[in-house]
Amino acid sequence: MTRKKKAAASRVPRIPKDLRELGRFARAARRRAHAPFSRFKVGAALRTRKGEIVTGCNIENASYGLTLCAERVAVFKAVSEGLKGFDAVAVVADARRITPPCGPCRQILWEFCGDVLVHMEDLRGRSLTMRLSELLPLPFDARNL
Ligand code: THU
Repeated sequence: MTRKKKAAASRVPRIPKDLRELGRFARAARRRAHAPFSRFKVGAALRTRKGEIVTGCNIENASYGLTLCAERVAVFKAVSEGLKGFDAVAVVADARRITPPCGPCRQILWEFCGDVLVHMEDLRGRSLTMRLSELLPLPFDARNL
């Protein structure tokens, strides 16, 4: 590799292997999305610090407003199973731009998962990883009550 290429490669942020693996769970969940109205399929995978993984996909409804996002499905599945102590969530969609969690999902993720890593990927493998606190600065939570 030339010196120039090496320098360019070192600027590409390295994605931890385990987040790539979590992304694969989200990708598999995405295939189960029920999105006949928007045709925008999303998959999510939530991980506990112990390594347990719970997935979710978006589930739409003809009434539109009852649609559930993939992230919230994953969070509610996990909470209802009694899981706690999350460290990362992966979100996979297929769009020209990387898909970040919507506003309500950020709020729900903050409530149950705290400042987790949010790993966003598309089907081409492009990705972006941020902390939830970067996506939701100054959150409203129990400390405000
Ligand atoms: N969607 C998600 O599942 N997660 C997001 O964070 C963004 C939006 C879903 C909801 C709806 O079924 C479709 O994507 C289009 O908005």
